[in-house]
Amino acid sequence: MSTHKSINKITTEQLRKMKQAGEKIASLTAYDFTMAQLLDEAEIDVIIVGDSASMVFAGNETTLPVTMEEMIYHVRVVAKAVKRGLVIADMPFMSYQISTDEALRNAGRFMQEAHAEGVKLEGGLEFLPTIKRLVEVGIPVMGHLGLTPQSIHLFGTYRTRGTSGTEADKILHDAKALEEAGVFAMVLEKIPAELGRKISESLSIPTIGIGAGPYCDGQVLVSYDMLGLYDKFHPRFVRKYAELGSAMRDAFAAYRNDVKGRQFPTDKESY
Ligand code: KIV
Repeated sequence: MSTHKSINKITTEQLRKMKQAGEKIASLTAYDFTMAQLLDEAEIDVIIVGDSASMVFAGNETTLPVTMEEMIYHVRVVAKAVKRGLVIADMPFMSYQISTDEALRNAGRFMQEAHAEGVKLEGGLEFLPTIKRLVEVGIPVMGHLGLTPQSIHLFGTYRTRGTSGTEADKILHDAKALEEAGVFAMVLEKIPAELGRKISESLSIPTIGIGAGPYCDGQVLVSYDMLGLYDKFHPRFVRKYAELGSAMRDAFAAYRNDVKGRQFPTDKESY
């Protein structure tokens, strides 16, 4: 008799059904094995190995410097840990923009070498041929519209996107085009809640919001932000579910003091 609990593995099809049934999708980011295992045990539906790794894991100012090789490593260790959630690899800056062929090669590496179950890329109409090609060969693609952090030097600011009529119309238009091109879901980042609602109601695929209001079909946060581990930015959409940064600082200081004060290790902690 098997002692394994049966696992209800999340698939792209299941995410679509969750939208139809009105069940919200819970997503977070992960970059390492231990964190990914904890997210999976908490039944987080979609685990995105975000290029936010560049900032919160590697300490860069933006998401731009992280490379394919670094992302492959993060995705591989996350995918090794996850049994239930859908593991999505975020395609780093310049891994999909140059040509459809390069996008195909790099997305293929995420699937083949790192065991991702889909990829995410930022942008709208300009990437339709690439998205169509990836989907054609069997690679599930997640879109990402609104504030797209890889374009930060073009935007010049992390302000809310889609606040003007023209910009909102473009995001809605892009969202419809991405759905038509075959994306299975899309992240909507930092747009007004009403635009989040309009897009979510216009599409049959799920929207996953980050700072895009309560009407999206799911929500995602950067795990380091919601755990209180990264405090360079304090956008209002980040709800802090823990203050692990201060808990860790306290633990490290307590350990240091024990070592300096000869309180660690005790006889019981020695051989
Ligand atoms: O890089 C990232 O963490 C993201 C999240 C918004 C999913 O793109």
